[in-house]
Amino acid sequence: MPVTEKKKVILSGIQPTGVFTLGNYLGAVKNWAGLQDEFQCAYMIADLHAITVRQEPAELRKRTLDAFALLLAAGIDPQKSLTFIQSHVDLHAKLSWVLSCFTQFGEMSRMTQFKDKSQKHPDNVNVGLFTYPVLMAADILLYQADFVPVGADQKQHLEVTRDIAARFNGIYGDVFTIPEPYIPKAGARVMSLQDPTKKMSKSDTNPNGYITILDTKEQIINKCKRAVTDSDREVVYREGKDGINNLLNIYSSITGKTIPECEREFEGKGYGEFKTAVGETVADELRPIRENFARLRADTAYLKECYTAGAQMAYRAGRRTVEKVYKKVGFLLP
Ligand code: TYM
Repeated sequence: MPVTEKKKVILSGIQPTGVFTLGNYLGAVKNWAGLQDEFQCAYMIADLHAITVRQEPAELRKRTLDAFALLLAAGIDPQKSLTFIQSHVDLHAKLSWVLSCFTQFGEMSRMTQFKDKSQKHPDNVNVGLFTYPVLMAADILLYQADFVPVGADQKQHLEVTRDIAARFNGIYGDVFTIPEPYIPKAGARVMSLQDPTKKMSKSDTNPNGYITILDTKEQIINKCKRAVTDSDREVVYREGKDGINNLLNIYSSITGKTIPECEREFEGKGYGEFKTAVGETVADELRPIRENFARLRADTAYLKECYTAGAQMAYRAGRRTVEKVYKKVGFLLP
């Protein structure tokens, strides 16, 4: 679908580094489907970003297809939204190079994700990991996105994107739209079930720490039952009760109830009952996605049709931005 003049533009992406977690879902993907009518949306599988950490090639190919099918299973409609795979649109890498020449070394050094990931993979602190946010800025600015729906962990990357865009515009005129982060109130930071001071992540070595979008009801309930909490008995949101706070956030994000409403619902009930209720609510929410996924993933011809068309449309939507940027910086056009 061509980018129309009237609708505001949304862009977001997710890395194909494993089955999406409940964190990915509540922080980002869940909200994406609901934005498709009001906005012109672009959703992509960020495979270029994924190789900042070493990947097994066959596994990356499989996960990319899994991730694409998961987007559709979660309600992204390729007829309404640009739905594509980042490496299929070479404009991202082209724009990223130019933007890297307008990004300061010091700015990148301050990124907390870089610090975290380089600590996790000390044997592979590659330059791609360092300039990761520049590629992300290119993803966003290429489509002149107005809003970027992400979880709270991506906020810093959004801020640097805005800085890069403003700097470029300051030199060359209004080339880029300055994007705004679009972060949900509940679900923006889902924490690990085993260590609720850390964010839930698909790269966690302990699978009890995260729920994936494809876990069965039984697995989900078991993981919730095993969730680390505290020795207190009250289901209330309070400082120091990280485990319970996390489960309350999850429950609130899915049911749409406020935290005080959730607290009232579980007044006088034990942690066991609360954890089971959270598990059941999560399982019910994810069941249709799991079922859609099984059907869609089996139809690789359809998936290919969608991502091929998606890449072509994304190319058409982004081409003008790169042409403009090339002209502005003084490249002799071929
Ligand atoms: P990624 O693949 O790490 O995560 C995808 C989305 O899920 C959100 N998220 C969470 N939200 C709440 N709680 C959590 N525990 C949690 N874990 C992850 C993330 O905030 C994200 O919105 N760099 C991005 C991918 C990307 C991108 C982009 C995003 C590449 N280009 C352009 C927006 C715009 C990333 O690694 O997301």
